Amino acid sequence: MRRMIPLSRPDITEEDIEEVVEVLKSGRLSLGDHTRKFGEVVAQYVGAKYGWPVSSGTAALHLILESLDVKEGDIVLVPSFTFIASVNVILMKKAIPVFVDVDRRTLNVSSETLEDAIKRCLKGFKQGDVHIKGVPGFFMAVDVFGHPLDWDGVLEVCSRYGITVIEDSCEALGSEYKGKKTGTFGVAGAFAFYPNKQITTGEGGVVVTDSEQIFTLVKSMSNQGRGEDEKWLYHVRFGYNYRIDEMSAALGLSQMERIDRILEKRSEAADRYSKMLKDLPWVQVPVVEEYVTRMSWFVYVIRLNGPDRDRVMKYMEEKGVQVRNYFHPVHLQPFYEKTFGNMRGLLPVTEEESKKTLALPFFTNISPKEQERVVEILEEAVERVG
Ligand SMILES: Cc1ncc(COP(=O)(O)O)c(C=O)c1O
Repeated sequence: MRRMIPLSRPDITEEDIEEVVEVLKSGRLSLGDHTRKFGEVVAQYVGAKYGWPVSSGTAALHLILESLDVKEGDIVLVPSFTFIASVNVILMKKAIPVFVDVDRRTLNVSSETLEDAIKRCLKGFKQGDVHIKGVPGFFMAVDVFGHPLDWDGVLEVCSRYGITVIEDSCEALGSEYKGKKTGTFGVAGAFAFYPNKQITTGEGGVVVTDSEQIFTLVKSMSNQGRGEDEKWLYHVRFGYNYRIDEMSAALGLSQMERIDRILEKRSEAADRYSKMLKDLPWVQVPVVEEYVTRMSWFVYVIRLNGPDRDRVMKYMEEKGVQVRNYFHPVHLQPFYEKTFGNMRGLLPVTEEESKKTLALPFFTNISPKEQERVVEILEEAVERVG
């Protein structure tokens, strides 16, 4: 019986384990030096002034919206082709997510799709059962699968309409657009470290920003609204327990020490897949646009042009190759349909392309042999059931 090839697998070294064990032995398990330092290291790595770690990428995004004082009824532009947390945090603030379609090549929001959505909002339109009319205040930008947006055009549109940009860079730690790292294009950015990410802390996230005010608010609100002096039973504002623990922060620090090697290995694995797949006419491999000076690969997502994606997925899973339909659009998720009504037809490109996407097993230490096996099973699946 062959071993299953998982969709993802964290890269944990002996050094990582030692760092975590050291923390456990120290007795200081929360709010210690590792937490502060992890935030600083991530901020320095991406070129931001401040960084503060929290308990998840979702918490990071929520705190950014809190610190910007997003209000009930505010319009927040967001792609539907993303992980659900990008949109759920907007609902946490009782704001209105307005879904934006994506560019067919990159599956990212483009300046054109963004401007189309803005114009729709200004004119007034129905999103499902909800009538939307107004000036969008915010754009939740997502560097999907690690691929940066085409930021020059997107930022130009946002500045023309006075829209504040929040960057959901949860999938893109280390990616660069024209030499500048993602996470730094909006007023604040978020990274996530779930075990399928480029680096992991188990659960965890980081907020990065150049704004001292956002940093101060995020830090305070992640710790029950305590003030700058962190006095224990004294709370100067509303807050949450979104703290990361010291073990997770130590793991993150240890992983950050080899981030460049991790990203290199992932790039090599992506290149290997692209080479192996290039002669299969029904496979569309992921594009990396020229403006991307460094691609930090989160997942490797192909599109199947022709074969039945769902049947291929089922066959591959049965053969022990874990695959995933990244992403089923948020606006078509049962909860969103219940909340906003039927939105089918709203986003033609998102709806068409998401039917074809297939994430192959992809992780830092995936071996060429495992990748060969994945491609073999993919070909077999298409031949038999596609
Ligand atoms: C685009 C995007 N946004 C937000 C998140 C949320 O991060 P977390 O799972 O750490 O809460 C993720 C992580 O999966 C993500 O991929």
